[in-house]
Amino acid sequence: MKAIGAAGLAVMVLLGIAAAAKRSSIWAAESSAATAGKTAADSEGHLRVPDDYRTSYQVLGSWAIAADDGKGSKELHVVYASPGTIDAYRRDKRFPDGAVLIKEVFSTATGEMTTGTVSRAGALKGWFVMVKDRANRHPGNPLWGDGWGWSWFDATDPSRTTSTDYKVDCQSCHVPAQASDWVYVDGYPPLKR
Ligand code: HEC
Repeated sequence: MKAIGAAGLAVMVLLGIAAAAKRSSIWAAESSAATAGKTAADSEGHLRVPDDYRTSYQVLGSWAIAADDGKGSKELHVVYASPGTIDAYRRDKRFPDGAVLIKEVFSTATGEMTTGTVSRAGALKGWFVMVKDRANRHPGNPLWGDGWGWSWFDATDPSRTTSTDYKVDCQSCHVPAQASDWVYVDGYPPLKR
């Protein structure tokens, strides 16, 4: 009896530790999403490109835009997500509040390499940034709505957007992805695990 009691207690302690660890990892993912949202948007809702996204964010995927004529790609798009976004999306099947998505837009250089005809990233043209907003924080702001903050930044100025109205500048082009919260999730293998 005594032995069973001790074993039972040990099992309960282990279950308790596992539950606490799970809670803290959920909390960590949510709080890192919220922190990321703050580094990409100020309290008035002005977006910016976070300085450190290339080292602290995670890559979601990339898109090659075919050349109009001839071989190769005319643009490359590389998409990053703020820390914790991938784990939270796999768990909840939705983007956590404060999640930041960044799409780099590159012109390309195309040439023959040992793998074939290859296009690589050339000059950076700029960034598209989306910040998840479940709380409708900036109701009168034309760069916020439908659950996101939206902005484009020219490569010369990562802290000042040239966008003025997301409905005109962004949304119509994202309608095909409306069912997946306006994001082209099919292009992002890490979200599927
Ligand atoms: C010409 C159409 C078009 C316009 C305009 C456009 N987008 Fe997109 N966007 C797309 C497409 C298509 C993709 C995915 C494929 C690709 O990159 O070519 C995408 C991808 C993105 C991504 C990567 C995450 C995702 O949704 O898959 C972000 C971030 C993004 N766009 C933000 C914006 C913002 C912010 C604006 C407005 C300032 C904007 N886009 C305007 C068509 C557009």
